[in-house]
Amino acid sequence: MRIGDLVIDPPVMLAPMAGVSNRAFRAIARSQGAGLCITEMINANALLHQSAKSYWLMELDPGEYPVGIQIAGSDPKAMALAAKEAEGHGAQLVDINMGCPVSKVVKNGDGSALLKDLDRATEVAARVVEAVHLPVTVKIRAGWDNESITAPDLAARLEQVGVKALAIHARTRADQYMRPANWSYIKMVKSRVSIPVIGNGDVETPEDAVSMLQQTGADAVMIGRASFGDPWIFRRVTHFMRTGEHLPPPTAEERSTLAREHLDRMVAIKGEKVAIPEMRKQLSWYLKGTPQSSRYRAECNKLTSYRQAHELVDDWLAGARYEPPSWT
Ligand SMILES: Cc1cc2nc3c(=O)[nH]c(=O)nc-3n(C[C@H](O)[C@H](O)[C@H](O)COP(=O)(O)O)c2cc1C
Repeated sequence: MRIGDLVIDPPVMLAPMAGVSNRAFRAIARSQGAGLCITEMINANALLHQSAKSYWLMELDPGEYPVGIQIAGSDPKAMALAAKEAEGHGAQLVDINMGCPVSKVVKNGDGSALLKDLDRATEVAARVVEAVHLPVTVKIRAGWDNESITAPDLAARLEQVGVKALAIHARTRADQYMRPANWSYIKMVKSRVSIPVIGNGDVETPEDAVSMLQQTGADAVMIGRASFGDPWIFRRVTHFMRTGEHLPPPTAEERSTLAREHLDRMVAIKGEKVAIPEMRKQLSWYLKGTPQSSRYRAECNKLTSYRQAHELVDDWLAGARYEPPSWT
C-alpha cells in the first residue's frame, strides 16, 4: 500500500494508542513486522502552549521508521502549526485524530466531536494539508452515534482536500468500546473514496485480519489492543495473509527477551521512576496466558525498580514450562 509516496509494507499497522504506542513500543512493533506505527495523540493546543510533554511525545526513534505523528485538535490554525512541528520532528506522515471519544477531548470540539461538524473537520484537514509537504492521513470513527453515520460523507470531503489515506475504527463515538466493531462501516467508507482505507477494530487474530480485508475491501489493517504484550501479532498476521499458514507462537525465551527489551527501552526514554509503574501492566501482558501467569501478574503490580522487574522476568523464565497460548 502507498500513502502518497510512502510505501507501507506489509499493510499491517500499529494503531495510535495514548499510553501504549510510545517510542519504546513502536520500535518493538516495527521490529516484529508492523508496516507503520503512529504515535500517541498529541494535542495541538498543548503544543502551542509549549508543553514539554507534547514536544517529548513527538520524539522519534531511528529504529521505528516509517512513522506518523498523530495530532488532535479542532482549531485549523493550531492544527496547521502542530503539523509543521511534526514535520520538523521527522515524521513521514501526519495523522489527524477525528475519533477520540474521551469526554474531555470532545467537549473542546476535538477528536470524534469533528464527526458532527463536517465543515470544520474538512477545514482542519485542508489547513493541515496546506501546511506540510508530508502525506496527511485522518483517523475517524463511523460517526457520532447510530443515527449519524457521517464517516462516508466526511471521507469523500477529506479526499477532496488532499488527505492521502483514511483509517476507520468501525464503531461510533456512542459505542465507545462496548459493542463489537461493525466492519460494514469500513466498506461504506471504502466505496466512497479512491485513497487507501485502513480498517480498524477488533482484529485479534490473523484470521480476523484476512476476514476484515475480504469483507470490506480495505487496503490495510490497523491493530491496537491485540498487540498488548503480543507484538508478534504483526508477523503472524502478515505471514497468514501471504501464505494462509500460521507461524508458531513465541517461545518463552522470545517472550522474556522482548519483555526485557521493552523494559530497557522504556527506562532509557522515561527514566526508572516513570517507566516502572508504566511497565507493570505491559510486563503482565507479556506473561499473560502462560503457566502461573496470574501469580506473576500480581507480582508485576508491585514492581518498584528496574532490578526487580528484570528479576521477575528471570524468575518467570526459569519456571516457565511453555504451553501454547490461546491464539494457536
Ligand atoms: C489505551 C488506548 C489508547 C488509545 N489512544 C488513541 C489515540 O491516542 N489516538 C487514536 O486515534 N486512537 C486511540 N485509541 C484507539 C485505537 O487506535 C483503536 O482505534 C481502537 O483500540 C480499536 O482498535 P483495536 O480493536 O485493534 O484495539 C486508543 C485505544 C486504546 C485501547
